[in-house]
Formats: sequence, C-alpha cells, structure tokens
Amino acid sequence: MKEIKKITVASPGTVANVVCGFDILGFALHEPADILTLTLTDQKGVTIINHDTYNLPTEPEKNCSGAALLALLKAVPENVGFIVESTKHIKPGSGIGSSAASAAGVVVAANYLLDNRFTNDELVNFATYGEQVASGSRHADNIAPCIFGGVTLIRSNSPLDIIPIPAPPMFVTVVHPQIEVKTSDARQILKTQVLLKDAVRQWGNVAGLIAGFMKHDYELISRSLEDYIVEPIRSILIPAFAEIKTKSMEQGALGGGISGSGPSVFMLSKDEETARKIDNAISEIYSKIGLNFHTYVTTINSEGVKIIEE
Ligand code: HSE
Repeated sequence: MKEIKKITVASPGTVANVVCGFDILGFALHEPADILTLTLTDQKGVTIINHDTYNLPTEPEKNCSGAALLALLKAVPENVGFIVESTKHIKPGSGIGSSAASAAGVVVAANYLLDNRFTNDELVNFATYGEQVASGSRHADNIAPCIFGGVTLIRSNSPLDIIPIPAPPMFVTVVHPQIEVKTSDARQILKTQVLLKDAVRQWGNVAGLIAGFMKHDYELISRSLEDYIVEPIRSILIPAFAEIKTKSMEQGALGGGISGSGPSVFMLSKDEETARKIDNAISEIYSKIGLNFHTYVTTINSEGVKIIEE
C-alpha cells in the first residue's frame, strides 16, 4: 500500500441526459465542484464528516459517499476503512449531479489511496450505489462523466458499457433556480411507455448528437438537441422553462434544456460571449418573476475528478 494516507479531490458537477439522452448521456463541468478529503484507516467502515450546511446524513448507508465506499470496501480484502470530510458546493437537488459528485469523488480518492487497483468502469459501478441512495436508481449518466471527464455515453447501464465521446470546445450556461426537485420524484412522474414515432425521433437525435460531437459539427449538435419524451413532462416543474429556451436561442445558444432531473437548466454555446448573453437573458427572466437563482458560465471539464492535495 502507498505511504499516502490522506488525499483531497475536487469532484465536478455534471449535466446528465444532455436533452435527448435520458439516462445515457452526460458531461462534466468545470464549475461547481465539491471538495472531498479521504483518510485511509486500518478499520473496516466509513465515517462521514460534513463541513457544510446541507445536513446530509452521516450514516454511511444513507449517504451517497458512504454507500459508494461501502460497495468499494466489499471488493477490498484488507482491513481498511475511510474517513470522509465533505464540503459540498453543488447543492443537493440542483440537477447538476450533486449526489454523483459525492459518490464519484470518494471512490476515485479511495482508489488512489489503494494504489489505483480498480478500473474507471469498476469505480463507476461502486459509485452507482451512492446514486441509488439519492434517487432510488443506479443510473450512471452523472457518475461516468464525473469520473471519466468530458462527454460520456452509457451505451448500457447493466452491464455497464461506457464510451467517452470526443466533443468540440463549448461553453455551458447553467442556471439553478433555488427550488429543489428530487430526482426520485422527477423520475416517478415519467411515463413508462413511449410511442414508437417519438422513440424514432428521439434515437435519431441521440445518434445525431453523438455524430455532431464527434464531427465537431455545431449545426448538427444544435438540431439534435430536442427531447420528445422527458422534457414535455418534466418542464412543468421548472419556472419559465419555455421562455428560458426561447430567449436563449434568440441569444445564439446551440440548444439546451433541463440539466439532469432539474431544476437547473443548461444551454450550450460556441463562445463565451454568447454564453454570457444567455446568462443575462435568463437572469432577467428570473429576476422579473422574483425567483432566487444562481448561474454558472463554464466549460466542459475533460478531466473529471481531480486530485488537489496529497
Ligand atoms: N438521468 C437522470 C434523470 C439524471 O434524468 O433522472 C438525474 O440524476
């Protein structure tokens, strides 16, 4: 085992679904990110210490970081455990991958303290147990980009088949209205069956979006950012969603929509100036209706979870 007993990582926010790819597409953001410090101990088990005001549970089985680490520890024969110190900057229930950042950050840090014995695919698998605590489902579309960085395609959730997708430089405007939407609730309202004609349009867009990313074809990316299945249902949970979309497109957005299960909304742009104009336009809408919100103008993070202190 390495001499290093303690490590601190920055675990980034992520945008899941990317409009048309419900549960199968996601990308990592440069901002915001959680800060997680892990200490390796010589006792099996996980201790959680929160350094923020979100009052997240400290029982490991009920905590995203804890559940992910308990899953990882099952695959570790040595008598070791971890102390997790968590400072969250990604608000729980924001739609920008708060639970995934907690779960993914700690398994990457733990792996480093255990001599990097697990593959990224194995780490994603452990971290999905943390996602399950938050949302009742082990989807990997936030966790995979958080660990791999960049844009990732989850071709299959079970068994896991993760494909990193190269993408051109893009700016991301994220607006987080200060209301909470629980992922479990936002999943429960979805229909369990879709019409074949909607499915055909949807998989055309998913294929178009992947091709657009890989060919660096911004026009193709733009016209593929359509969702006929999830957005029509979930958008009712997001204040002024239609107006946000219309105004963002008027400012030159390539497109965008609900980030993960919401309430955050994201828009993609080719350049920073457009991304900032979109930020201003959306801020104006929320200011007018008197809703508190937080915005980020950032870029796609190709690194994923990053070690910031050993
Ligand atoms: N794919 C997930 C959903 C992301 O939309 O429910 C949120 O965790």
